[in-house]
Formats: sequence, C-alpha cells, structure tokens
Amino acid sequence: MDHEIHELNKAETTFRTIIEPFKIKSVEPIRKTTRAYRERVLQDARYNVFRIHADDVMIDLLTDSGTGAMSSEQWAAVMRGDESYAGSASFFRFESVVRDIFGFKHVIPTHQGRAAERILFSIMCNPGDVVPNNTHFDTTRANIEFQQARADDLVIDEGHDTQSRHPFKGNMDVGKLEALIEREGTDRIPLVMLTVTNNSGGGQPVSMANIKDVSAVCRRHGLPLYLDACRFAENAYFIKLREEGYADRSVRSIAREMMGYADGCTMSAKKDGLVNIGGFLCTNDAALAQRERNLLILTEGFPTYGGLAGRDLEAIAVGLNEVLHEDYLLYRIAETQYLGQYLSDIGYPIVQPPGGHAIYIDAKGLLPHIPPLQYPGHALVAELYLAGGIRAVEIGSVMFGKVDPETGAETPAAMELVRLAIPRRVYTQSHIDYVIEACKRVWETRNELGGYRITQQPEYLRHFTCEFEPV
Ligand SMILES: Cc1ncc(COP(=O)(O)O)c(C=O)c1O
Repeated sequence: MDHEIHELNKAETTFRTIIEPFKIKSVEPIRKTTRAYRERVLQDARYNVFRIHADDVMIDLLTDSGTGAMSSEQWAAVMRGDESYAGSASFFRFESVVRDIFGFKHVIPTHQGRAAERILFSIMCNPGDVVPNNTHFDTTRANIEFQQARADDLVIDEGHDTQSRHPFKGNMDVGKLEALIEREGTDRIPLVMLTVTNNSGGGQPVSMANIKDVSAVCRRHGLPLYLDACRFAENAYFIKLREEGYADRSVRSIAREMMGYADGCTMSAKKDGLVNIGGFLCTNDAALAQRERNLLILTEGFPTYGGLAGRDLEAIAVGLNEVLHEDYLLYRIAETQYLGQYLSDIGYPIVQPPGGHAIYIDAKGLLPHIPPLQYPGHALVAELYLAGGIRAVEIGSVMFGKVDPETGAETPAAMELVRLAIPRRVYTQSHIDYVIEACKRVWETRNELGGYRITQQPEYLRHFTCEFEPV
C-alpha cells in the first residue's frame, strides 16, 4: 500500500486496512454487461457517454455531485420533514446546524449551489466588475459572466503543473490578488472568492495559512471574502493531515476556523452535504441577506424552504454533521488516493497529488498519438466505457475547445484531462479494484486507440449533447 495511505491510516488506527465506515442496508443492483453489448450502446449514443442510460453503466464516475448515498439517519430525518410553506420546523433545524458548523449569521436555502451563486452575483456584481477566485468552477464563472462581469483565476503557479506535489495546490496567489486590486481598484471588485477544495484545479485543497492571508488582504481593502464551500470538509481534513499545527484539531473546529476568515459562502450540499439535491448561501451582512431573501422569493421560494422540500432540509442537516466524522473522511481521502496510486503504478500520468474527490488522468500524456482536435480525452472516456462499463468525463477540448462561430475553426483546450469522480459512500474497495483492472486493460491497448470527430454539436455546452464518430 502506498506511503501516503499508510500515513493516513497510522494517524487514525493501528490497523493497516481502512474499511468503509458503514454497513449496507439497501442495495441497488449493478447490471453486468459485455463489451459487445457496450459497443452497441456507445454507437447508439453517438459515442457520447452523457447520452447513455445509467442502467447501461456499471461504475459511474461521471461526477461526485448529488450521486452520494444517504445514511439511515438521513432517511429517518426525511420522514420528519415539515412541509409547511412558512416557518417550517425543518428549516430551523437546518439553519441551526449550518450556523453551528459554518458560523455565519444568515442562512438562505437554495435548490443547489448555482442558485446561491446566481443570487449572490446578481446582487453584488455590476457590468465591468471583476471577481477573483483561485479557480472558478464553470457555474460560478458563468453566473459572473452573465452579469457582464469578469471571472479571474489566480491559483498559484504550482496549481497549473500537473506533476507538482505542493500540498496545497488550490492556494490563491496572494501577490496576483494584490496586483489585481492595484490594477482594477477596489470599486470594481465586489467580492473575492476561494473554492475549497479547488474542483476545476484537480480537487486540490487550500491551506489555512492561505485562507488567512487572502482574508487579510481583503480586510485591508474592505473587500468581502466568500468561500465556495462545496467540499469544505474534505479541505478541512487535508489541513488536518498536511498543515503544521492542525494534526490534533477536530475537522469541525478546522472547518469553523476556515469560515471565520470569510464573510459568507455559497454551498452545493450535493457534495459535502451528503445529499442528492440542495444548497445554501450564507452571509454576515444583514442588509445584503435581506436583498438576497427578496430575490430568493422571486425565483426559488419562501426563505424557509428556498426551492427545497422540508425533508431535503432535514437530510442536509444530518449530512453536514456526518461529513465531519473523521472515520468517514479518512476512508474518503484514502479511497481517492488508492485509485490514484494504482493508476500511477500502472503508468497513467495523473494530476498529482490526488485531490479529495476525483482522479484526473492526463490523456494527452497517455495518448500522444491522438491530436488534441481528435480529442484524446474523449477517446479514453469511450474506451473506459467499452472495456469496463465505466463512465468518466472528458475535461479537455470537447468541453473547453473554442469554436469560431464564423469560420468553424477550433482551438484546443490547454489540457486534455479525464476525470474519474468518486460518489460518496457508494462504491466499495472491490468496485475501485474493478476500475483499476479495467484501466490496466485500457493501458495495454492504449497505442491502438484512435481519435474521434464531432459530427453534430449545439452552440453552447456541446459536451453534453454533441455526437461523435471514430476517425
Ligand atoms: C466548486 C463547485 N462550485 C459550485 C458547484 C455548483 O453546484 P451545483 O451543481 O449544486 O449547482 C459545483 C458543482 O459541481 C462545484 O464543484
């Protein structure tokens, strides 16, 4: 077993084996399929895995968002859901848990993370404004740009280097932030964001020291700091493991300290809320909260349910406490590292070190014979499906390539990555071993894989629906 996992294990127990810290009470069958069957399915889906029925997928690593398994306590809480339109008891339970863990004064429920972002940015951003982040997730970028503002990524240089082993590759470059403030002026920067962990940067954590430094710059210039807190517990656990002075602190107190440097947060509870739908927006600013609630009523719902059912609020309240259990986080981070370690032992070039929720394979490094505009990431995604019924997602030129609307000429993306995202509490070690075995088969045939061309595509977000054929 790899050194890092061993270290993780040592921190918590004298046993070498890290067990899934749960028993299985309810099961969902996985339908086994053959390669010949999957070839037909993929062809019928025009080679786009988003178009495949989930029943035809054996291990679904498309995303870790909203795909986790709820606990028996969460299902029990669902039964307690109070569906009153106004003043629901479930809201007050939810609000008290969020306040207790996050420490912010005002808690506004939303149906998912992007709804919180839309409300926040439509109130705070004006055309021409700039919002810095370590790396914006697509929905934060899109919601900022929708306000005709600019979304700037200021992650440290190590965050761009797939092989750098910096322990906190999600950190923001504080020098770049100061330079941006100097250049643009504080009037044009309505808020600063930090995404913990940094999803678009490989799920890499942000250190407490960096959160503190960014916060100090913001306070000096009178700028509010917001955390995009989707994976706050995974980030807090990395701080405990990797940052000096935190080894003996509880993850809960680390999370609370992280939030203490910020003025508010956006949250997709579909990640570290351990639920299938839900989110929230927090702030310490009473006047801002009032404006946010007014907008919430217009698009999401009354402030005590905000686009969610009472039962959803109950499940989030339980999930937020469960995600801070350190045996859960030990298993969660070890599972991702285990997959990453075995893939790199096979020879896969992956983004190092493994982040919290996913492994990112460098498809350009794996398949150098496939040109970027024949989509090496897509070729790998297709082969993972054919070899093992595994669904992954391309994060490369299919997703981020730029097509000139006039000439149709295409510019490739900076990187050709494939993400294997691990749903929370869904798969056991044998499922991960199966993924590793399938990846080994793909590795052995890598030189025979060919590229793809796009035969049909929509104007926006083409990766969801476009059609391919093998070159
Ligand atoms: C870092 C980050 N921010 C925001 C979001 C948006 O959340 P949602 O999908 O709930 O709208 C996601 C979703 O994947 C995310 O990873």
